[in-house]
Amino acid sequence: MILSDLNYEIHITNNHHQLLTEKLNMYAHVFIVTDAHVYTLHQNFFNDVFDMKKTVIHVIKPGETSKSLEVYQTICDNFLDHQIKRDDVIVAVGGGVVGDLAGFVAASLLRGVDFIQVPTTLLAMVDSSVGSKVGINTRQGKNLIGHFYDPSFVHIDVNFLNTLTKRELNNGYAEIIKASLIGDPELFSQLKNPKHSIDEVIMRALQVKIDIVKKDPFESHERMFLNFGHTLGHAIEKEMNYETIKHGEAISHGMMYAIKKGIEYQITEDTLEKEIENLLHQYGLLNIQIGDIEMYEKRMQSDKKQRKDGLQFVCIQSIGNPLIKII
Ligand SMILES: NC(=O)c1ccc[n+]([C@@H]2O[C@H](COP(=O)([O-])OP(=O)(O)OC[C@H]3O[C@@H](n4cnc5c(N)ncnc54)[C@H](O)[C@@H]3O)[C@@H](O)[C@H]2O)c1
Repeated sequence: MILSDLNYEIHITNNHHQLLTEKLNMYAHVFIVTDAHVYTLHQNFFNDVFDMKKTVIHVIKPGETSKSLEVYQTICDNFLDHQIKRDDVIVAVGGGVVGDLAGFVAASLLRGVDFIQVPTTLLAMVDSSVGSKVGINTRQGKNLIGHFYDPSFVHIDVNFLNTLTKRELNNGYAEIIKASLIGDPELFSQLKNPKHSIDEVIMRALQVKIDIVKKDPFESHERMFLNFGHTLGHAIEKEMNYETIKHGEAISHGMMYAIKKGIEYQITEDTLEKEIENLLHQYGLLNIQIGDIEMYEKRMQSDKKQRKDGLQFVCIQSIGNPLIKII
């Protein structure tokens, strides 16, 4: 299945790599960034898809701490030592950490090298590999150095999901549930059925993101809808430390908070609260206790999305109908 509404094609497949191979054949040299989990678990993928004679592989330590200036510098040094040229390609094979980091290397090294995303977590498949945001963290916060940089191709192979832990899989489902709430009521219904097709829900979640990004690539209005649940979610992540709670778990609490606030502001239909809570429970997304909401509300005030004219807070009126309320 190929989605091509953006400037680049997104290919969703199960273990068919011909299209990716064809793209890679266009380049004299290929520079891969991956992490140690993916590299160990998916040796066959690397051996089958890449011509090792023309490939340099840089393996990073798994986890958020690798999205740093230090690791960025190490990758740039390694690729420059291997004489990377502007007409080579950088390929990210991994989750959102690898994609954001490798994408930022691609955007900045030699003022821009072609970039291919091969997302290997569900979260990366439905969210971070599409939409062109790349970047790294600093000690002051997440994603504070970055760029909008289009990949030239996104290769989504659902076969990668077979080695993901249940918790990581559910982490990705949080973003799929979010996509359904801001743009696709039919997807919301499909998610209630545990026997849904994974290809279909990935495709539908991506379509929601693509439609929004196409209208507002640089996040001046509609793209904010993608932040549904993220305002409180980011505050929870910061307070609880990124290792204790996963992004999807944090934004799930954030989505419930946004629903409750929406009901309080008389924006959201109040019948939605139970229905959405049940779906989030079905995917184990509210299992981690987060404690006192007021603590996060204070953090929210310093959220980077805060503007001088107030905090842009995303609510939904009904499933598929988001709006921004300034609070
Ligand atoms: N650019 C964007 O638009 C955007 C959007 C959302 C999130 N993000 C970023 O994405 C990052 C989170 O991404 P993530 O949740 O994919 O985290 P991640 O990249 O840290 O991956 C999570 C874990 O899964 C492991 N893993 C990856 N693929 C695997 C596989 N197939 N089998 C087994 N294990 C595998 C990784 O090694 C890691 O331990 C954050 O840094 C976040 O800021 C970016």
